[in-house]
Amino acid sequence: MSADFSTWARHQRERVEAALADWVSADAPASLGVAMRYAALGGGKRLRALLVLAAAEAVQGNADAALRAACAVELIHAYSLVHDDMPCMDDDVLRRGKPTVHVKFGQAQALLAGDALQALAFECLLPVGPQVPAAMQAALARLLARAAGAQGMAGGQAIDLASVGKPLSEAELRHMHQLKTGALLQASVAMGVACAPQVLPAAAQAALHDFGAAVGLAFQVVDDILDVTGDAQALGKTAGKDAQADKPTYVSLLGLAPAQALAERLRTQAHSALDASGLREVGALHALADQVVQRTH
Ligand code: IPE
Ligand code: IPE
Ligand code: MG
Ligand code: MG
Ligand code: MG
Repeated sequence: MSADFSTWARHQRERVEAALADWVSADAPASLGVAMRYAALGGGKRLRALLVLAAAEAVQGNADAALRAACAVELIHAYSLVHDDMPCMDDDVLRRGKPTVHVKFGQAQALLAGDALQALAFECLLPVGPQVPAAMQAALARLLARAAGAQGMAGGQAIDLASVGKPLSEAELRHMHQLKTGALLQASVAMGVACAPQVLPAAAQAALHDFGAAVGLAFQVVDDILDVTGDAQALGKTAGKDAQADKPTYVSLLGLAPAQALAERLRTQAHSALDASGLREVGALHALADQVVQRTH
């Protein structure tokens, strides 16, 4: 990781953390806000937010829209984790190094905190006032809704639960991963691009689409790998859960070394897509692809 990138990433994370701390108010009825803040603030790597901001930088995007989009995607992600950890899904007790939301606040409050974080994500994208043009707001909301819903994260989670104990083909596994995790990461890049003041050339759009797809899939391949090679201390979540729950993963399908080789190929694909984009300010996107594949948590 270059010094430039780590300085950039630290600065952007601080901006996102501060904006989220502002937007996720503790002031909600019956302590719901306390559960929401517990779920959304502090602890996450903020990779999706950084992808939004890096893509927006590559296209000289509207800075206010980009910060809103970065926070919105993190709010959707936080909600998805709260629900993913509940007993009816993965039944996990540890997340971001802390007890999961339902362990701390009870299942009903966890369900509602997730619901409210999802709604807040869209509120964040749809400000009143001139700072983000209405058409840009609509484009951002459309991208996020699509990635979070039945054709994205929620649909992928449904496939995940329906696939327990089933040997999937590589194409089926790829489809599941593209939906449950890839869609939101790919949308992060697309939302950064949607902050551009004018429409990008088709070749650049296609290249950034390919970049998002490669990084999105690589992310979940690495998540599958870390579930096997990581430990709870490093991951901040319980390791070994996929095998224990008999979930099909890239490691169970291919084995560890081939899954690692696949993640490397996806990183190369992501970098090639940036080269093909013709855009100059892609250093942060390039480094984020590295981070997705090299991360240890
Ligand atoms: C974990 O995502 C859940 C998946 C989608 C696989 P991250 O590893 O990005 O989690 P945080 O946000 O850094 O905690
Ligand atoms: C979760 O995938 C994807 C989401 C939509 C939250 P996992 O179930 O593999 O995520 P972890 O390993 O619990 O973080
Ligand atoms: Mg899961
Ligand atoms: Mg899980
Ligand atoms: Mg996992």
